[in-house]
Amino acid sequence: MSSTTTSPGYSTTQIGLHWLIAALVLFQLVFGESMVAVVDAAEEGEQASQTDILLSGGHYWVGIAILCLVAVRLVLRLTTGVRAKRPTTPIELAAVAMHWLFYALLFAVPVSGLMTLYVSEEIGDIHSLAKPVFIVLILVHAAAAFYHQFIVKDGTLRRMFVPRS
Ligand code: HEM
Ligand code: HEM
Repeated sequence: MSSTTTSPGYSTTQIGLHWLIAALVLFQLVFGESMVAVVDAAEEGEQASQTDILLSGGHYWVGIAILCLVAVRLVLRLTTGVRAKRPTTPIELAAVAMHWLFYALLFAVPVSGLMTLYVSEEIGDIHSLAKPVFIVLILVHAAAAFYHQFIVKDGTLRRMFVPRS
């Protein structure tokens, strides 16, 4: 998909959305267990702690915010694009695949969270896989960004801080 686009970098809005969504995902990963605590307490007819109730409310709305923001981001990505040339080497193709995998997860994980609450609690087991999957992908993605910036020195990390002109 990115092969059809021509502009060489990201806009200010795209960069802002990248880092805002990254921060919100981090919040979800760090405080997601409060949602588990509230769901478990409800199942056992117990009262969850005030902190868990507060954080689970945050989990709910931050998750929905991620879903909305990623929709905006995807529209921008598909309409304005980023890449100047068709990816050819295995590494370039892997980077493109990783980016689309992130987009897929940023939709699928909030949707599976909503389904856990409104369709079947059993989907919670699948939703909880978001934690290890996101952690591994974020580590690989960040390591790749640092490798490109500081070893290959091709300005990849800079692209996510300095908007295209
Ligand atoms: C990108 C967005 C999201 C991420 C990264 C995320 C991540 C997580 C994580 C890490 C947990 C804890 C898993 C564990 O410790 O085993 C969790 C639990 C949970 N999340 Fe999310 N979540 C997101 C969005 C949502 C949304 C939008 C909802 C619903 C509106 C939701 C509902 C839940 C529920 C109900 C649980 C408890 C599952 C259970 O008890 O098995 N999540 N989430
Ligand atoms: C939850 C965390 C993160 C998510 C979900 C995420 C997601 C993404 C996605 C989907 C793209 C592709 C953008 C596009 O082409 O439309 C991207 C690009 C990028 N990300 Fe992340 N990212 C995260 C964290 C990070 C971190 C921690 C770093 C750096 C330390 C980083 C550095 C970059 C860079 C440099 C690019 C541009 C790569 C290029 O254009 O070739 N990201 N990210």
